[in-house]
Amino acid sequence: YNDAAWRSLDLPHDWAIEGPFSQELWGETGKLPYQGVGWYRKHFGVPASDRGRSIFLEIDGAMSFSAVWVNGRFVGGWPYGYTSYRLDLTPYLKFGDDNVIAIRLDNPDQSSRWYPGSGLYRNTWLVKTGPVRVRQWGTFVTTPRITPEEALVNVDVYLENRSGLKADVAVVSRIYALDASGVRSGPALAESAPMRIGFEPEKASEAMRANLLRLPSPRLWDLASPSLYVVETSVESEGRLLDRVETRFGVRSIAFDPDRGFLLNGRHVKLQGVCLHHDLGALGAAVNVRAMQRQLEIMLSMGVNSIRVAHNPPAPEMLELCDRMGILVMNESFDCWRRGKKWPGTMKENDPAITYYDYASVFMDWHERDLRAVVRRDRNHPSVIMWSIGNEVIEQWFTDGWKLATRLAGIVREEDRTRPTTSAFNGAQCGYSGFQTAVDLVGFNYQCKEYQPFHKANPHIPVFGSETAAMLSSRGEYFFPVTDKPADGRVDFQVSSYDVTTEWFFNLPDKEFKALDEAPYSMGEYVWTGFDYLGEPTPYNGDPSHLLNVSDPARRAQLEKELAELGRIRVPSRSSYFGIVDLAGFPKDRFYLYQARWRPEHPMAHILPHWNWPERVGLVTPVRVYSSGDEVELFLNGRSLGRKRLPAGTYRFCWDEVVYEPGELRAVAYRQGKRWAEETVRTTGPASRVLATPDRAELAADGADLSFITVTLADSRGDLVPRSKNLVHFTLSGPGDIVAVDNGDPTSHESFQAHERRAFNGLALVVVRTRRGHAGKIELRAESEGLAPATCTLHSR
Ligand code: GAL
Repeated sequence: YNDAAWRSLDLPHDWAIEGPFSQELWGETGKLPYQGVGWYRKHFGVPASDRGRSIFLEIDGAMSFSAVWVNGRFVGGWPYGYTSYRLDLTPYLKFGDDNVIAIRLDNPDQSSRWYPGSGLYRNTWLVKTGPVRVRQWGTFVTTPRITPEEALVNVDVYLENRSGLKADVAVVSRIYALDASGVRSGPALAESAPMRIGFEPEKASEAMRANLLRLPSPRLWDLASPSLYVVETSVESEGRLLDRVETRFGVRSIAFDPDRGFLLNGRHVKLQGVCLHHDLGALGAAVNVRAMQRQLEIMLSMGVNSIRVAHNPPAPEMLELCDRMGILVMNESFDCWRRGKKWPGTMKENDPAITYYDYASVFMDWHERDLRAVVRRDRNHPSVIMWSIGNEVIEQWFTDGWKLATRLAGIVREEDRTRPTTSAFNGAQCGYSGFQTAVDLVGFNYQCKEYQPFHKANPHIPVFGSETAAMLSSRGEYFFPVTDKPADGRVDFQVSSYDVTTEWFFNLPDKEFKALDEAPYSMGEYVWTGFDYLGEPTPYNGDPSHLLNVSDPARRAQLEKELAELGRIRVPSRSSYFGIVDLAGFPKDRFYLYQARWRPEHPMAHILPHWNWPERVGLVTPVRVYSSGDEVELFLNGRSLGRKRLPAGTYRFCWDEVVYEPGELRAVAYRQGKRWAEETVRTTGPASRVLATPDRAELAADGADLSFITVTLADSRGDLVPRSKNLVHFTLSGPGDIVAVDNGDPTSHESFQAHERRAFNGLALVVVRTRRGHAGKIELRAESEGLAPATCTLHSR
């Protein structure tokens, strides 16, 4: 097959993020062309000297239904796009010759409730080993006893002998400390006695041996000090090294108490969590470590201590980052089981002949393999604290649904008995139907009123909010009058940022805060969601007719006209409004509501809305302040509008009767009577210049490192001009590339890969990537008509 005309590209790669957006595609999956078939091919040499070795292809995740051929012969594949798997290529290879691998991906239309990405979007590896070796994910490190003097470290090692010959081997493990950058430091801190094993020809070719080690004075893995170790396991025979694997681990204890919640190293830790989908915004689903690290840094700065990977196994790099950054993880496997959530629109939900488009279509054949793969791959990560076997599965509504839950939880327990199982239920009846005993911990989605009755009825089962709040907002948009109706007679498909809008079945964050304050036994919460994600643009999911649901006939007629002028068959929205942070990574107002609660020792105050309302002079314009202080005084142009204390069970400082006049709003926060924090918002002048500020200016010339550059439209004083939407053009010189642009507007169909972007409420984002092996100075220039341009300098080393 002549592939000379094929495009050449680097992995990981997500073909759908290249777009274009199409109004005709579903908003649920981001209006991006993820569906359909894609192929990748690669030629590679295998030296003759590799004869006798085994050569594996390892795929961290391929979206989806991947099928692999080598030299024209079918090797195997894996349907679920989020699971890591390995194929043995050895029998298909030509040693001492050129080989070609071909991988086909196939994404069924309507097979996801969010943007899944497409293609070889995670890393892919070629692994070479001898025939006597540690199997894939073949070590399991546990720390059954931890004291200040020593930790008992047990290393289960799973071996295989594929030589067909006799083999006498010894397995030894040694522990080394890792420094903060993950590099091994110093000599071995502990060494196991060798465990011997004799493989007889023609007999069992698999075996497990445990190495037991005593690690003196262990440094614990904890949130503020996530100390890590590595255990190096060697398989030796007659002084010859046959295989060696490294397994990173942490020494920490976890406990889940129905009365005290979650305990880390014996200390109570309230879960301050967010749910995250796997996409990286404008970069799509293609794995990039720096982009994931940035997401986590932003979440940490808000006070997050835990992530729920919704609703699928994450990239391994995500867990490595959480290990290193001290973030707890709820590791989730599935969004559905046998009963799917996606089926042909022509069929009824309870049609016995129903066919599903999502994971349900393969569940019966694959759930066990998927679940074992997830747990085996991830069970050495200290960050992982629980296994979720499902999100809002349909079986939760059936009287015998607990049977399947018991089977799945049983598979997990066979692979790991050191962590509990859980599931996220949106049906309160699961707390009483028997479902609650199939798993070890009960997670409720949007059921905060159930914590008390559940706890009373099930005093032995820990409970938490596996999905909470789900508020909607667009960064920097404020609508008047302040109401909780999403559309409120507008056709711009934005949602007001006064933080009062949810769909009917969700809660305001405040309601969850209050419920948690009244339920000290609860482990905490996971907010839906930390970041906006591609797809699921609730409340603008499909047909815009609900926008016309306004009582005033004149307003209705005008809206109909505006909609007709827009010429839209469906709404344009292609990414969510749920995020506390927008798709580009810019915090929305809500960020500060959570920060005030989750980082009470961090002095802060945040004012909303912005103060550029020329059309509102003399009109009531409510002001809110989020603060970690216990009192706030608000000033408008130097006049006090009153000093307020929060009434019990409320979390926002409110001034509802402020009459707008241009000028300056200043909030002064107090804590126990002392000045604590201060914040000012000013009416700005017109935009006069562009500012460009990189998150990092010193980069690695590795072809993967990124700089996220915030582009601000500012007035002559340098203040962000809140409602500005100017188009900004980007040019770059030096050894780097512009790989993505964004502005956080959920309705924009501008390409993420263009070299220009309209600002959304004063902000845009440019992402620059270095080139591998090419060091040097990179300069990004940002220009907008009529404004002074900005230049930003990066160094790739
Ligand atoms: C939940 C679901 C999430 C997301 C959210 C917002 O019920 O678990 O995946 O769909 O609603 O609509």
